[in-house]
Amino acid sequence: MQTKSVSLERTLTLELARVTEAAAISAARLIGRGDEKAADQAAVDAMRRALNTMDIDGTVVIGEGERDEAPMLYIGEKVGTGNGPRVDIALDPLEGTTLTAKAMPGALAVVAIAEGGSLLHAPDIYMDKIAIGGGYPEGVINLDAEPGDNILSLAKAKGVKPQQITACILDRPRHADIIAKVRKAGAAVRLITDGDIAGVIHTAEASTGIDIYIGTGGAPEGVLAAAALRCIGGQIQGRLIFRTDDERERAHRIGITNLDRLYQRDDMASGDVMFAATGVTTGSMLQGISLYGEFITSETVVMRSKTGTVRWIKARHVRKSME
Ligand code: FBP
Repeated sequence: MQTKSVSLERTLTLELARVTEAAAISAARLIGRGDEKAADQAAVDAMRRALNTMDIDGTVVIGEGERDEAPMLYIGEKVGTGNGPRVDIALDPLEGTTLTAKAMPGALAVVAIAEGGSLLHAPDIYMDKIAIGGGYPEGVINLDAEPGDNILSLAKAKGVKPQQITACILDRPRHADIIAKVRKAGAAVRLITDGDIAGVIHTAEASTGIDIYIGTGGAPEGVLAAAALRCIGGQIQGRLIFRTDDERERAHRIGITNLDRLYQRDDMASGDVMFAATGVTTGSMLQGISLYGEFITSETVVMRSKTGTVRWIKARHVRKSME
């Protein structure tokens, strides 16, 4: 994928904030109700409504699934009024369905847009990922290297001991080997139960104490995380994981021919990229939605690659306007 020079209207970042706010507020009404599907559906409905008010000619390239399995915000769905720039949209209306259903920290509503043709079209399958923050030369991390070697390489590039490195990893049995190897190399492991978009973004923020993200998670989350790192700086590599012929077939259908390809950040998100996320439940990245005071309140982060600007938008919403 080539890097494009066309830039998007900068006011779109505010529009994007409205989109993730709407999804987060709708999902928040289902926090702690034990119903992942209902929470996801509420976020999808609200995000779709908000996207369809935007003056864009948008195509969902990372969405809720394929048309036959996801009636809304499916891959290929056209969104927006049609009057405006042609854009690719990557979205995850509710990143952390389980976190929401169980009222646990860190659920987000997430969206990214870029000029048409600039975001990877990826099926909803798994992806192997490795990511670090900005400021390092290319080649410090390598998805194909042993986890321990990546820790040692990063420690060397940072000028610290491996013991001063913390890796963020999803707490899954499939990661037992990676976790053991990272610890053997001397690094600490911060385990997360869900939410690897935030896990990747945290590598780019010194205050989080996370230096590197390693592991297998959703491919859609990989592309969204790449979009965020394109805005704030950082490296991510990913490779799609195919477990069945059906998954291979789905990839072929959306134009992926090289199934073993190693994607660099800019292969997943190039050109002028905008990214927005609103907290649903309070987590390490954002405050969650507060529903029950005089106003509904939200916290959103919006980023743009062209300028590198990151804005945190705290909003209070009049209850009636959000119903
Ligand atoms: P959902 O909101 O779709 O449940 O995704 C949460 C998440 O933790 C992602 O952040 C991550 O990429 C993926 O699930 C990991 O998948 P799995 O739970 O199958 O290990």
